[in-house]
Amino acid sequence: MKHFYSIKDIDNLPELVDSAIALKKQKEISNFGKGKTLVMLFFNGSLRTRLSTQKAAESLDMNVICMNAGDAWKWELEEGVVMDSDKAEHIKEAARVISQYADIIAIRSFPKLANKEEDYADLLFETFMKYSEVPVINLESSILHPCQSFADLITIAEHQTKTKQKIVLSWAPHPKALPQAVANSFLEWIQKTDHEVVITHPPGYELNERFTQGCKITHNQDEALKDADFVYVKNWSALEPYGKVINQDPSWMITKEKMSQTNNAYLMHCLPVRRNVVIADDVLDSDKALIIKQADNRTHAAKAVISQLLKDNY
Ligand code: CP
Repeated sequence: MKHFYSIKDIDNLPELVDSAIALKKQKEISNFGKGKTLVMLFFNGSLRTRLSTQKAAESLDMNVICMNAGDAWKWELEEGVVMDSDKAEHIKEAARVISQYADIIAIRSFPKLANKEEDYADLLFETFMKYSEVPVINLESSILHPCQSFADLITIAEHQTKTKQKIVLSWAPHPKALPQAVANSFLEWIQKTDHEVVITHPPGYELNERFTQGCKITHNQDEALKDADFVYVKNWSALEPYGKVINQDPSWMITKEKMSQTNNAYLMHCLPVRRNVVIADDVLDSDKALIIKQADNRTHAAKAVISQLLKDNY
């Protein structure tokens, strides 16, 4: 594996999930990453991603340097431009310079949600990977959040009772416009398993077809939830008009009554979650909620990714 940007970087997903579960059982600190440095750059806020990735790297005895990208110079991404704007550094130099200080570079950069074509080109990641001299980890780009999806698949593997379970991805209301990255990535990853996948959302919240191909899609949330084994809840903004909140229908919030239609399903959410807007308190506080276990598995997923990148590149 050269970079960890999307599911396409994974040769053998079941093997990677098994390796993460095996690493989770190892309590002692490994020195596999001794003498190596992870540089993390955050263009946006984070709780889980930042702490779990640092913990994972340190558990492999790596040095970790974490920087809020706002503390550095603004990057120009376009080739051949006259750099007379507020962007003082070209990503060409930035990527090669950071490569001198890092053995792995991990980046988080959310979409601007203003221009679909621009966001879906994921230019910052595509350009950074082109010029980086070391492996790059995607800690959530404009369109993908593979570290979250990997942790989600570990969590499902730990709780599934059959090879094929019914997994529902349900949109839920939210007051702010959120990216589609978690939903996109979850679909990319879950479709590599044997599970049945059903997507449910109100009309107008269709996800990019690149990620939904092969999935059943319904606007009837009750029909989707029937006999579900896992319910993954997430808000995302519309693709058309791009990046907008077009519906905040509170009847789409996940409640205990809605969960009663399922096959006693597990409840999943990547967090942070707005209680009693996206999911009701009694569902989040029930013993079927896997949210804290998903957050725990972020560390084990990150450890497996970093280990694989070190193994394949050094
Ligand atoms: N789920 C997730 O990525 O959480 P943070 O945004 O807090 O990192």
